[in-house]
Amino acid sequence: MSKLINQVALAMVAYERGNQRRINHFLRVHSYAEIIAEAENVDADTLKILKIAALMHDIGIKVSLEKYNNAGWQHQQEEGPIEAEPILRRLNCPAGIRERVLWLIAHHHETEGVEDIDHQILLEADYLVNAIDRGRAAEDVIKRAEEFYRTKTAWLLLKALLGAEA
Ligand SMILES: [Fe+2]
Repeated sequence: MSKLINQVALAMVAYERGNQRRINHFLRVHSYAEIIAEAENVDADTLKILKIAALMHDIGIKVSLEKYNNAGWQHQQEEGPIEAEPILRRLNCPAGIRERVLWLIAHHHETEGVEDIDHQILLEADYLVNAIDRGRAAEDVIKRAEEFYRTKTAWLLLKALLGAEA
């Protein structure tokens, strides 16, 4: 793990202090995102962006709950980048990476019109974790995935988790 990614991981664990559910969530999304990205041969910069975005994607939840008692995606979209930006600046994250991570945080609920591989893999990894944790029927999980899953690796992982035929 590169120094910057390691620092983001530590900063995010500190940010979510005491909330084991959210810490476990972003660590698992990060891990799946890395597995998918490496298997799909994304370039080094994209991998770095994706890993940081995976660690930070839900950063808007805590502040949305505090401010509005509601962590709907509209609030997260607004609040998430505002929370993440000073952390990335403090860690001297290069501006290009920072801007893309902030964009991904703001768009990680949008599964339509996805154009780039970092956005695609973030959505897939987040869904892998959420779909399993919510204990929905395998058939329903697959049906929803068919609407936006694209990478071969995400499908492999999802079907393996569900015990479905590959
Ligand atoms: Fe998430």
